[in-house]
Amino acid sequence: MAQSSQFSRKILCIGAGYVGGPTMAAIAAKCPQYKVTVVDINPERIAAWNSDELPIFEPGLLDVVKIARGRNLFFSTEIDTAIEEAEVIFVSVNTPTKTFGAGAGKAADLQYWEKTARNIVRVSTTDKIIVEKSTLPVRTARAMERILNANDKGIHFEVLSNPEFLAEGTAMEDLDHPDRVLIGAPETESGKKAQDVLVEIYANWIPRERILTSNVWSSELSKLTANAFLAQRISSINSISALCEKTEANVNEVARAIGMDGRIGNRFLKASVGFGGSCFKKDILNLVYICEKYGLTEVAQYWENVVAINDYQKQRFVETMLRVMFNTIAGKKIALFGFAFKADTGDTRESPSIDVTRHLLEERAQVVISDPEAIPNAKKDLADCETEVTYMEDPYTAAEGAHAIAVMTEWDLYKNLDYDRIFDKMEKPAFIFDGRNILDHQKLYEIGFNVFPLGTMALKHF
Ligand code: NAD
Ligand code: UGA
Repeated sequence: MAQSSQFSRKILCIGAGYVGGPTMAAIAAKCPQYKVTVVDINPERIAAWNSDELPIFEPGLLDVVKIARGRNLFFSTEIDTAIEEAEVIFVSVNTPTKTFGAGAGKAADLQYWEKTARNIVRVSTTDKIIVEKSTLPVRTARAMERILNANDKGIHFEVLSNPEFLAEGTAMEDLDHPDRVLIGAPETESGKKAQDVLVEIYANWIPRERILTSNVWSSELSKLTANAFLAQRISSINSISALCEKTEANVNEVARAIGMDGRIGNRFLKASVGFGGSCFKKDILNLVYICEKYGLTEVAQYWENVVAINDYQKQRFVETMLRVMFNTIAGKKIALFGFAFKADTGDTRESPSIDVTRHLLEERAQVVISDPEAIPNAKKDLADCETEVTYMEDPYTAAEGAHAIAVMTEWDLYKNLDYDRIFDKMEKPAFIFDGRNILDHQKLYEIGFNVFPLGTMALKHF
């Protein structure tokens, strides 16, 4: 193992999750001159990072980890030792929605962040730059700075905001070629100096013009706003998908037509059964809570509706299934193709599949879940329905004897299945509900399926 003295900087990341692991692996792979350590309170997670069975599935991640692990990238549970030696500490612990007390259901739960800050103060013996990597409410950095700098050891902490914009499934590509990196710093001499240190780290592989600097509050708010805008586009197109189903318009054609307007742009306009993922809902509700706190009721309501439309879309999907399957799905077998919240990840946090499964179970359907990566997480999400749900990774087996298939995740695998073979083994009439609009609907109809895409006319034989 290399001696730490040969490194020009010692960087630490607290929190070895979906953000901490990939971002630090990217920095370490790009910058062999730095020692990068990632710590976590969860020893199983750290053990997995030190193995070839990484704790998260992310295309290309293992290759990047292998470049640097043991050279200048270290995963450890020795949190205190790592804090003491680091000059720059990224904090990427989880910031879930609060489930108790004031702001329950909306505000961010900052207990993990604050515990981390207090631990940093307790252990540190030298000045440090603390980088908010977690997504946090506006003005959290100020609160953290107060906790950190209320020490009597004469140590100074500079708190920067450096939100992460990577998306799961494309994390390594996003880290390699980010649209931008944002670094918010206090507008003081020491704040600027700390900002320069972080700029220098990213400038090892990111062109300078893509590294934006701002004040801390703009940086914190930009992260919440970026997620709110992205989610808003999905809710906008999903709201239009409902109207398309009533009017014989086709949501894909509408999305294409509006997306070719350069001012609108064509990305994030795919109608779906709803957006999922650990952050969109959480961050919008956090924004809503902040607006409410400042008395901006109309602004809060505006953003809250983005989440309301998302819930409506999931509900609508199940209502369509129920209506067209002769108003009863009790006892009928329904195969879900996909459980991850998007393709190329095993992550199921806030996946629309969770709500859809629960609605289907309320109607007493027999749900069979199929997914190439997400079954372990699905089992945890649905632990309370153990006896009512079955899991089969193979989609052919999952669909055997089923009355309906619902495509929940846009995995490529589902586009290329032998649907003649699947149809033969299903109950008739056989239904397909394409919650991602990824299948060849005309072809499925010709095979004999009754096809219900999102936001376009159904193709049915009755
Ligand atoms: P995660 O739950 O996967 O990882 C957080 C990790 O922090 C966990 O492994 C947990 O054990 C660890 N942790 C908690 N408290 C700790 C402590 N006191 N000391 C050491 N470790 C501790 O979460 P994530 O998805 O990586 O998200 C982290 C933050 O990044 C959140 O604020 C999230 O909003 C934000 N974010 C996430 C994504 C994403 O794609 N998942 C993208 C951008 C931003
Ligand atoms: C999102 C943002 O894209 C990232 O920039 C951000 O860093 C991250 O949240 C975060 O803060 O956690 P992620 O949730 O990983 O990333 O994935 P997205 O690609 O944004 O997809 C989110 C959800 O929207 C998925 O369920 C996806 O299927 C859905 N989606 C996306 C649609 O339904 N339609 C679309 O057109 C695009």
